[in-house]
Amino acid sequence: MEAQNIGFIGGGNMASAIIGGLEKAYQDIGIHVCDAVELVRDKHKNLNRQTYADITNLCQHSDVIVLAVKPQNFGDIMAELAAALNGQLVISILAGVTIKQIEAALPDQVHVVRTMPNTPMMIGQGMIGMARGTHADEKDISSTKDIFGISGKTLEIDESKMNALTAVSGSGPAYFFHFCEALQAAAESIGFSTEEAQLLVSQTAQGSVNYLCQQEGFPAAQLREQVTSKGGTTAAALDVFKSKDFIDMCQQALAAAEQRGKELAEQA
Ligand SMILES: NC(=O)c1ccc[n+]([C@@H]2O[C@H](COP(=O)([O-])OP(=O)(O)OC[C@H]3O[C@@H](n4cnc5c(N)ncnc54)[C@H](OP(=O)(O)O)[C@@H]3O)[C@@H](O)[C@H]2O)c1
Repeated sequence: MEAQNIGFIGGGNMASAIIGGLEKAYQDIGIHVCDAVELVRDKHKNLNRQTYADITNLCQHSDVIVLAVKPQNFGDIMAELAAALNGQLVISILAGVTIKQIEAALPDQVHVVRTMPNTPMMIGQGMIGMARGTHADEKDISSTKDIFGISGKTLEIDESKMNALTAVSGSGPAYFFHFCEALQAAAESIGFSTEEAQLLVSQTAQGSVNYLCQQEGFPAAQLREQVTSKGGTTAAALDVFKSKDFIDMCQQALAAAEQRGKELAEQA
């Protein structure tokens, strides 16, 4: 990894997940965190990270800057960042904030990469979309992969697909959680206790996803067919999904998420 000192503006949940991955993978790396909250700074300080109350100081010690505040705090940080930047790559994880908005707030020619991680990044199994800004080059994408690739898998896309990617992998974990919630409630409705339903659903979810991901080519349809004998129990259940047009429901859900992403970006 080329960058030796990574600076984070915002030291919350997502920043902590990225930092945890970096520290595991790279022993000599310098982690620098600027956060408005003293308690958050103290938490990082206790883990031997350099902390700062102001962005100017953070920028003096960092080769790369990661924007990790909530999108609503974007406006609060950009003027100070613009004045303090000294040629560093700026990587944003802010949902819904566009490259155009970031570049407009920063000096000309600044190198920007916009990313969209998801929450499984907290356990090193994230999916991280990356889009390069006007002046970002291969080296910037490679630095972004170095930083995020240890917390999951990365995919470079054109920014025009960022809302679509958000609909699939950004919001995606919540769809799986919702499906598990629904299965658990259904299991309870046919006679299992909460603990029993939790065990049955959690182990089935974990085993099925791991089994699928370990096969070559992610053959979801093939594995489904293998467990669906004609006239059997699985077929009876899947017939109900089909009658309710489950596939169409998923397509509508993704379209709604993508549309909401566009609306939020327009409002920002
Ligand atoms: N969670 C997800 O699933 C997910 C997925 C993709 C992308 N993201 C993006 O990740 C970003 C961070 O999310 P998070 O869950 O890590 O948020 P978080 O836990 O709230 O962390 C943000 C931190 O930044 C601090 N902060 C606010 N204003 C600041 C300022 N002016 N200077 C320095 N620090 C400041 C916050 O303090 P206060 O608490 O006082 O505001 C907080 O400690 C968001 O933009 C979100 O869109 C999240």
